[in-house]
Amino acid sequence: MKTFEKLLLENKAWAQDKTTVDPGFFERLADIQKPEVLWIGCSDSRVPSEIIVNAQPGEMFVHRNIANQMITTDFNSLSVLQYAVDVLKVSHVIVCGHYNCGGVRASLKRQNPGLLMVNKWLKHLKDVYRLHQSELESLGSENDRVHRLVELNVIEQIYNLAHTSIIQSAWKKEQRPSLHGWVYGLDNGIIKELISLPPGSEINPIYQYSD
Ligand code: CO
Repeated sequence: MKTFEKLLLENKAWAQDKTTVDPGFFERLADIQKPEVLWIGCSDSRVPSEIIVNAQPGEMFVHRNIANQMITTDFNSLSVLQYAVDVLKVSHVIVCGHYNCGGVRASLKRQNPGLLMVNKWLKHLKDVYRLHQSELESLGSENDRVHRLVELNVIEQIYNLAHTSIIQSAWKKEQRPSLHGWVYGLDNGIIKELISLPPGSEINPIYQYSD
């Protein structure tokens, strides 16, 4: 059996299992989604967002890209954020990175001449590296630097979120959402909390939107 055929077969089995346990499962979900969480994660196949937090369909609005970045000139990320915050009215935005991230590891190397688009995406990670260059270069091994840059990148993405007009406006008008920066361990399956910014958190004035 080919890989894609197996996926289609597994899908039928999954849908059957769901309706066996709860006959109205899909009918209820077909009408409306009311997720309380926006999840921004890495595209890495080993970090499947819903599976690692045991979430069911309808519970999380999900955006994934290489190295779980919130790039504020990227229409994809911004559209997801705006829809989640302004229409779905999520209470929490989670950025979940993971240790040993291939994107983060690649960003510590020279640019790959064969991957012109990916280089541009990883350029933002190089900027995070440069922001914390002295701390990162004081670490002994490449693995230690990747490990720490994974964490610093998650924290940076939380600040990128807080610096958007979308988040600041929702904080002011509706006192939500909370922002959470997490990191997932590929080797133990456990998520660690790195940073949490509740609504109204202090923001550097140069990033504040004034009325
Ligand atoms: Co990754």
